[in-house]
Amino acid sequence: MPSSHDIYETERLLDEYLLFHYGSADELLPAAVALPPELTAALAASLDFAVRTVSHFSPGSGGRALDLGCAVGRSSFELSVTCDEVIGIDFSHAFVRAARELQDGRALTYRQHEEARLHRERTAVVPAHARPERVHFEQGDAMNLRGDLGVFDRVHAANLLCRLPEPLRLLDRLPALVRPGGELVLATPCTWLEEFTPPENWPPGETSAWLRERLEPGFSLIHTTHEPFLIRETARKFQWSLSQLSLWQRRD
Ligand SMILES: C[S@@+](CC[C@H](N)C(=O)[O-])C[C@H]1O[C@@H](n2cnc3c(N)ncnc32)[C@H](O)[C@@H]1O
Repeated sequence: MPSSHDIYETERLLDEYLLFHYGSADELLPAAVALPPELTAALAASLDFAVRTVSHFSPGSGGRALDLGCAVGRSSFELSVTCDEVIGIDFSHAFVRAARELQDGRALTYRQHEEARLHRERTAVVPAHARPERVHFEQGDAMNLRGDLGVFDRVHAANLLCRLPEPLRLLDRLPALVRPGGELVLATPCTWLEEFTPPENWPPGETSAWLRERLEPGFSLIHTTHEPFLIRETARKFQWSLSQLSLWQRRD
């Protein structure tokens, strides 16, 4: 029986994530009808999620960075602007393959789905400001990371936690991954689903309270906020979600 994670190996999800990470506003926003200006503005503010989550790290040079659940790589490339070394890890072989092809300087052609069999060909490329030579992508499991990863100045995990069968295995590893004084950005839309996480492994109450309880012994909470994001499925179907983002600093 296919596991729920197999969806991240499908061409359809690869297309959606290439558009989500690399698409332009014109490609991502609804174009079938003219929407009220306030709605268009709210949707436009939901673009560039993979860039916005990275912008929560403190300004300045960042040393080593780890991007967990990096998907097709946009946040890893954004981290490469300020960090000398970035490791992007994702469970999906298809996503990691695409991220590596982009890193090699290839323009990746993908399908922007309109409806039924209709689609447009689009192209993803690494943004010019990124430093792809600083990035290393690998396939791996955030709940069972290799032991020799070392420690990082910045760890980023966006919209990953509620896709893990055993999220505590990641949360409990985080103190060892972040150097004292280093930073952690965690974002989650808290969309806990049985297909990904057995209910006995869901937070007992609010995700934010559960994160504080698990992380505060090793980290200080610097700030929390909400970051909206928009995933375009077809010309007329969009997922608008609100991720809860927290920035933490590793205690000395
Ligand atoms: C909802 S997507 C978020 C991707 C990206 N961080 C973003 O914000 O656009 C979840 C990602 O986590 C990856 N993933 C799921 N389980 C994982 C695991 N055990 N270890 C590493 N990555 C995993 C999926 O392949 C997918 O790329």
